[in-house]
Amino acid sequence: MSRSSKALFLAALAIVALLLAFPSPAKRTDRINLSPPMAYTPPKGYVCYRASSPPVIDGKLDDPAWGDAPWSDLFLDIEGDQRPFPLFRTRMKMLWDDRCLYIAAELEEPHVWANLTEHDAVIFYDNDFEVFLDPDGDNHNYAELEMNALNTTWDLFLPKPYRDGGPALHDWEIRGLKTAVAIDGTLNDPTDRDQGWTLEIAWPLANVKEFAPKSSFPPEEGARWRINFSRVEWEVTVRDGKYQKVPKKPEANWVWSPQGAIDMHRPERWGYLHFTKRPPGSVAFEPDPTGPAREALHRVYYAQQTFRKKQGRWAESLRELNLSLNHPSFTNLWLATMPGNFEASAVVRRSDGTRTTLRIGGDSRVRVELPDSRADRGD
Ligand SMILES: *[C@@H]1O[C@H](CO)[C@@H](O)[C@H](O)[C@H]1NC(C)=O
Ligand SMILES: *[C@@H]1O[C@H](CO)[C@@H](O)[C@H](O)[C@H]1NC(C)=O
Ligand SMILES: *[C@@H]1O[C@H](CO)[C@@H](O)[C@H](O)[C@H]1NC(C)=O
Ligand SMILES: *[C@@H]1O[C@H](CO)[C@@H](O)[C@H](O)[C@H]1NC(C)=O
Repeated sequence: MSRSSKALFLAALAIVALLLAFPSPAKRTDRINLSPPMAYTPPKGYVCYRASSPPVIDGKLDDPAWGDAPWSDLFLDIEGDQRPFPLFRTRMKMLWDDRCLYIAAELEEPHVWANLTEHDAVIFYDNDFEVFLDPDGDNHNYAELEMNALNTTWDLFLPKPYRDGGPALHDWEIRGLKTAVAIDGTLNDPTDRDQGWTLEIAWPLANVKEFAPKSSFPPEEGARWRINFSRVEWEVTVRDGKYQKVPKKPEANWVWSPQGAIDMHRPERWGYLHFTKRPPGSVAFEPDPTGPAREALHRVYYAQQTFRKKQGRWAESLRELNLSLNHPSFTNLWLATMPGNFEASAVVRRSDGTRTTLRIGGDSRVRVELPDSRADRGD
């Protein structure tokens, strides 16, 4: 330390000592957010490579193209990894081309059974595999597809999650959808033990365009959609030579990216489907830079819902909600209340210096403002 910097250092020490001895009564410590950054677990991501040729949709995963697609992590309980690991293994993989998103799944299952044969029946009353797709990641306008081991499907569309009033549109159809199931074992035969079932889905991008007009078709390099997968599993016993559900046992829900609650209709918790045209295996998934800001906005949204249930009105400030949320990746978390609604917003600085504002309102729809073209000067 040079002599002048030593003098400066001593002067600074003296000032600090003075401040400590005579705290200014005007100082508003309540504006200073001293809480640590909020805990945040990013949703899972899956890098989706191009299909070298379209897989034949027959339920068998023997097409050469599937060899290029990595398996996902094994599915976990919907409430997260604090819960027991699922009894049977489930995993999925995906590919895409200009026409379709292809999905394959493998469900380990010693007792393959299915009863429902009618399209659009409530398929989760059987064991099933489910896909949820929200391309623009705004929580609204998303599709759901469920299928059982008989290849019976239920496709539906949600303008909004049930929590925001739904309702689900059951007449909606995924036009051009192809699905198939292959069973490694025997269906509805309790006299033997099965290995499980595999399935394939070809979901036409033209159908997705109907409900996600803002996304690009085919997706551009690096485009990210929100997607989630779930498997419903009922406990069964054998009675009169048939599989029968164990009465009064709730179903198990095993998912790719845990929801943290027994509710698949939390699109903000779904995983990321990252499209690329780069060679298979060459891309590493990077978490969404707006992820923590999105998480903070959803915490405000959920706190507002709870507050309104109790108080009959929206809270007018984060302080009134007792919420103190911060994370190095966003600034300016703000809550404004207007008649009948609220808007929470946060600003994310991107690595290229641009800024993006994200907003959420009482219906949980997320709006993302295009990046501010002014370079951020770090103010
Ligand atoms: C499976 O169901 C789809 C309709 O969702 C149908 O087009 C297809 O032919 C069925 N495949 C088999 C193998 O039954
Ligand atoms: C399948 O349907 C049969 C006939 O209705 C019924 O007896 C059986 O309990 C069902 N299986 C399961 C596992 O629900
Ligand atoms: C949905 O996404 C959440 C958040 O990543 C994850 O916890 C959950 O397991 C996912 N559910 C499914 C069915 O993939
Ligand atoms: C905020 O904290 C205060 C004091 O602990 C409490 O009275 C109030 O009910 C809390 N409000 C909410 C919305 O949790």
